[in-house]
Amino acid sequence: MNLLPQDSLELIQNAPSIVFLTGAGISSESGIPTFRGEGGLWKNFRAEDLATPEAFQKNPKLVWEWYDWRREICQKAKPNLGHLIIAKWQKKSSSVHLITQNVDGLHPRAGSETLIELHGNIFRVRCTNCTSIFHLEKDGLDHPGLKFCKECDSLLRPDIVWFGEEYNQNLLTKSWELCKQSQVVILIGTSANVSVPTNLAQTAIRNGAIGIEINPEETNLTPSMKHHFDGKSGEVLPQIWKEVFPDETME
Ligand code: APR
Repeated sequence: MNLLPQDSLELIQNAPSIVFLTGAGISSESGIPTFRGEGGLWKNFRAEDLATPEAFQKNPKLVWEWYDWRREICQKAKPNLGHLIIAKWQKKSSSVHLITQNVDGLHPRAGSETLIELHGNIFRVRCTNCTSIFHLEKDGLDHPGLKFCKECDSLLRPDIVWFGEEYNQNLLTKSWELCKQSQVVILIGTSANVSVPTNLAQTAIRNGAIGIEINPEETNLTPSMKHHFDGKSGEVLPQIWKEVFPDETME
C-alpha cells in the first residue's frame, strides 16, 4: 500500500522546487533528545536558564556547560536514514532545498551541502566582542568550559539563535524565497511551536504548495497539510523515496 496517492506522487516527481523543513524530531532516531517530547531537553531545564543572552550574561559557565554536554551528544550521534534520504535527494536534484531548525550538524554530516541552519550550529562559536567566528573542532576550541576569541581574547558564545534574539536576516530572506517558490513543502519532526519556521511552512502552502508532514504527533500545522504521515522520519522517508524513485536503490 503506497503512502502517496498518484496525484501527489506525480506532483513531487515533476516539482521544479521542493523544500524540506526539519526540526529536532528528525534527529531523535539518532539519539538526540528533542526539545519538547518525553525526556526533551527543555523538560530538565528552563529555556530561560540557559538559551538566552541574559542567561549567558549572568552565568556563561553554566550555559557553556550545557552546550558542551549537548555538543558531546551531537558528536556521538550518527545521521539516520531521514538525514541520509534528504541528502541523497539533494544530490539528485539541485531544486531540493533544506531549511533546518536543528543545530546538531547531522544534516551536513549526512551529506547535505546546501542547507539553511535557521537556528545556527552547535559546532560554531562567535566572539561577543569582534566579528570572529570559529569552528570548535577545526579551530581547536573544542574543550569544555569557557572559550575565548583567538583574535581579541574576548568570551566566545555558541553561534546559535537564542530565545528573544533576532534571526539572521539573510537566512530568513532566502528561506522565505525558497518557501514562496516551492511546489512541495515537507515538514519533518517539528512541533511547529516556534513562529518563524511555522510561518515559513504556511507561506509555502499559501503560495500553492502541497504540505507533507512526517511526525508521530499532529501539530497545529497538520490541518493545512495535504498529507500527515504518523510515523518516524527514519521509516517514512525511505518509503516515500521508494515511491518517488522506484528505479533507484537506497544505497
Ligand atoms: N520522526 C519525526 N518526528 C518526530 C520523531 C521522529 N522519529 N520523534 C519526535 N518527533 C516529533 C515530535 O512529535 C515533535 O512534534 O518531532 C517534534 C519535535 O518538536 P520539538 O521538540 O519542539 O523540536 P522543534 O520543533 O525542532 O523545536 C523548534 O524550538 O527550542 C527551540 O530552537 C529550538 O530549534 C528548536 C525549536
